Amino acid sequence: MNYPIITAAEAATYIKDGYGVGISGFTLSGTPKTVLPEVAKIAEEEHAAGKPFKINLYTGASTGDAIDGALTRANALNFRAPFLSNPTVRTAVNNKELTYTDLHLSLMAQDLRYGFMGKVDVAILEAIDITPDGKVYLTTAGGIGQTVANLADKIIIERNSFHHTEGLHDVYEPENPPYRREIPIYKASDRIGKPYVQVDPKKVVGIVEVNLPNEPVVFKELDDVTRRIGENVANFLLGDIKRGIIPASGLPIQSGIGNVANAVLKALETSTEMPALDLYSEVLQDTVIDLMELGRVKSGSTCSLSLSQEGLQRVYDNLDFFRDKLVLRPSEISNSPEVIRRLGVIAINTAIEVDLYGCVNSSHIGGTRLMNGIGGSGDFARNAYISIFTCPSTLKDGKISAIVPMVAHPDHSEHDVRIVVTEYGVADLRGKGPDERAKTLIENCAHPDYRELLWDYLKISKKAHISHNVAAALALHTTFEREGDMRLTDYNKFIG
Ligand code: COA
Repeated sequence: MNYPIITAAEAATYIKDGYGVGISGFTLSGTPKTVLPEVAKIAEEEHAAGKPFKINLYTGASTGDAIDGALTRANALNFRAPFLSNPTVRTAVNNKELTYTDLHLSLMAQDLRYGFMGKVDVAILEAIDITPDGKVYLTTAGGIGQTVANLADKIIIERNSFHHTEGLHDVYEPENPPYRREIPIYKASDRIGKPYVQVDPKKVVGIVEVNLPNEPVVFKELDDVTRRIGENVANFLLGDIKRGIIPASGLPIQSGIGNVANAVLKALETSTEMPALDLYSEVLQDTVIDLMELGRVKSGSTCSLSLSQEGLQRVYDNLDFFRDKLVLRPSEISNSPEVIRRLGVIAINTAIEVDLYGCVNSSHIGGTRLMNGIGGSGDFARNAYISIFTCPSTLKDGKISAIVPMVAHPDHSEHDVRIVVTEYGVADLRGKGPDERAKTLIENCAHPDYRELLWDYLKISKKAHISHNVAAALALHTTFEREGDMRLTDYNKFIG
């Protein structure tokens, strides 16, 4: 089949008001780059003419400013799932200008297939190429490409000659129940699918030619706090290896995005006692590429290459070296609870706040304002061999404590959280009852400025299996909102 070459503006005309649009990509990686900005322009024109124009947008995770930002500014988003990180769309969600569903990333493709969300009318896939018989070779992320291509009536291909991911993808889509079988991944590096997404060539309305990098990933420099958190995690893992809790050969690691994740991997890099690792994760950052070159990371299974321009170029320049070490998977597989549990993945994620019993808030500041979403943290935390959450003990110059009596929004319950790490130390919650959990969290993780306040809270709590004072449980949060500093909390004001 010969596919017509079309412009991004022509491709955008296939997308109409009310359509569901499913796209490839995961974070800033692998998303189509030119068609949706054109859709934003159409929306602006339609709105100027007094006509409605909004779409429902489904992706693997977040996108960048060219998609979430541009569509939000054009008031062109009706519905968005499953994750956000762009500040413009975040503000719009918090202002209730669109509907957002915050979803475990492993569920996104499945929810679309099950019909839990709207129809996918058009799929846009960023690819390095498409063959006449419909084999689409994706760029830097697996995402939900295969699923949206199957569900869509029409498919647009953005052929992006900037990228060179030949042979990195392993595309596998499970059957729906009752026909689903096990996902046969037994090692982090196993390949079980095809290196391409298979589409029906008849659905492809055209190819848009582009040559564009991913939007740049911004990395924060490590500081003392993140470095200490990283070291604490690495020392904890080494301790568990020495005690025989983690096998001496190690277990696959999942490490999230952000500077704490980088600090943890940096600390692992410098530890000579740590065995060379496999990663089973949803994102891979530059540190992993460094560690692979040093032989400290054996393999990396991921949904997306969330690398800097320079990091990505290193992979492209040395593809023969990386091809048998990197596997790019659909988010349904990179984040599969079944596989995570089978492989014994050690999950390391970042918390917004943690309560005295180990419940974690990953997504909503103050319990109301969306930050990014739950992302893949729940997929990994719930099913991990050991689920670790990290955070700095305080934020905003000490005015906010990340260790609080009760989280203002629960994403991960105390049943799913095993280890909490701050720059002060490690709270090992395994095999402990609620009182011991609270003690170790206060003594090992809370900032010294807050320890007394947290003990005071327990003194005024109703003694039961889990001791709480429901009237005062969110006193730290309320005090911050009213007075700008949690340290000013006076429990007398809350317990009447
Ligand atoms: N109270 C108020 N604000 C808080 C907070 C708290 N307890 N904890 C974090 N924040 C704010 C920070 O101040 C910062 O906002 P700012 O940029 O306006 O200052 C923002 O949240 C991000 O925090 P930061 O300290 O920069 O850490 P981070 O970049 O590592 O992000 C999460 C932390 C929790 C927001 C991030 O890890 C996330 O979105 N997690 C959920 C998704 C996930 O875990 N995915 C799986 C792995 S990729």
